[in-house]
Amino acid sequence: MALIPIITIPDPVLRKVAAPVPEITDRIQQLLTDMAETMYDAPGIGLAAPQINISQRLIVMDCGKDETPELFKMINPEIINRSHELAVLEEGCLSIPDQTADVERPAVVEVKYTDIAGDEKRLTCEGLLAACVQHEVDHLDGVLFIDHISRLKRDMIVRRFMKEMRQSGSGSPKGE
Ligand code: NI
Repeated sequence: MALIPIITIPDPVLRKVAAPVPEITDRIQQLLTDMAETMYDAPGIGLAAPQINISQRLIVMDCGKDETPELFKMINPEIINRSHELAVLEEGCLSIPDQTADVERPAVVEVKYTDIAGDEKRLTCEGLLAACVQHEVDHLDGVLFIDHISRLKRDMIVRRFMKEMRQSGSGSPKGE
């Protein structure tokens, strides 16, 4: 088990379309384990492989409440259904630390993915899990939550983040 450094904007890897995972190898299993550990340590509720500088279609999520963990490890996840109904939730991102914004997305989505046993699964997500899975699958396509808000707000967040990063002097406002 290992913690892996999380990359932040403007790293170009965050803007790349990640490659599908052709086969579930031991390396992929280990990567998902390390990603979950890295996510819990951050702490965060979701992490996509591009955020640890690996451009492959892997995500981990845990939107469980309080003491009840609910860890998902998804290989090649794909959103296959989206509700017309929309919901607004405040989002942040470990690759843009300490910045948040209200993001509007479909309220309910269905995701298709391969689990670590190699089985194809479908999961209907609502509430926080719906926002989280859309946010993480976006990462696999080089899309960030700030792409879903107005240009004015996006520019403000990016400027503020870059300023905090310069002031911290260590390359990360969290001092990691
Ligand atoms: Ni994110």
